[in-house]
Amino acid sequence: MRKLPVIIDTDPGTDDAVALFVAKALNVNVDTIVSVCGNVNGSYTHNNVVNLNGFLSLDANIIKGADKPLSGSGFTAEEVHGENGIGGVILPKAKDNAGDISQLYHTLKQLGKSDVITLGPLTNIAYVLREHPEVKENINSITAMGGGFEISNIPNNAEFNFGCDPMAADIVLSSGIDITIVPLDVTHKVYLTKEELQDICGFEIDKTDQSVVGVMSEIMYYNYKISVAKKDDGALIHDATAVIQYLHPEYFDGIYGTVTVDNYGATTFKDGGNIRVIFDVKRDLVIERLKFCFTKGH
Ligand code: RIB
Ligand code: CA
Repeated sequence: MRKLPVIIDTDPGTDDAVALFVAKALNVNVDTIVSVCGNVNGSYTHNNVVNLNGFLSLDANIIKGADKPLSGSGFTAEEVHGENGIGGVILPKAKDNAGDISQLYHTLKQLGKSDVITLGPLTNIAYVLREHPEVKENINSITAMGGGFEISNIPNNAEFNFGCDPMAADIVLSSGIDITIVPLDVTHKVYLTKEELQDICGFEIDKTDQSVVGVMSEIMYYNYKISVAKKDDGALIHDATAVIQYLHPEYFDGIYGTVTVDNYGATTFKDGGNIRVIFDVKRDLVIERLKFCFTKGH
């Protein structure tokens, strides 16, 4: 059972929102959530972090992170996540007491040791490592949703999170920190069919149901509709898969090696190194955890 405080860096994003819901339902020890530009622009992702933190009763400290990448053109993905990043769902507005990105260094030092889960571009983590290289001693592990080896989702054989900020990905992946990468190769194995969604959270959307499960189901179905329209096999909850991998590494198989990224963020794996790349998953066990979150865990 993971005990250390956790810092989640995220660009909500429909699958990020489901990931935060899963983190709450499965009692991840979330100390701080850092927003980063990615799926939509930084003001939307930050508002979503603030409002999800309140709506899901995560009650984490919030840091407003980067609204542009260290490198790259900073493209967004409204066509996947909607204009506001969470499928047009309007959450109750929470008070924004966020600190600025300089707070991330102080948080890492104050916590002593913490686990980091990144669900968006690696801009914030790269920034703090570049400004304060010694802080890597305070990062026990990084679990990063990102990369794709046989699968890509943006041009030039790249994946969105690493491709949004290739320089940041390179800084983090070459840091020597204990990193687990949860790439598209495994998150695409956790697609959710209409029948599985029916079993997890019922298939009919009731927009009047403003409960946590009701709203999270609406966000999940938005993800499903967009995913199947893009000819994916079902809803793709990349980030929730990464959170479940953090909690239940025994559900997943991986190999250790070195991962490099090119100027587009495309990843290359070679043997020998301390980065664990996940390549397989016991899909039914992940789906059981999702069902638990939507039925008992909230
Ligand atoms: O490539 C998928 C990743 O990019 C997910 O984290 C999604 O939310 C987007 O950030
Ligand atoms: Ca994300």
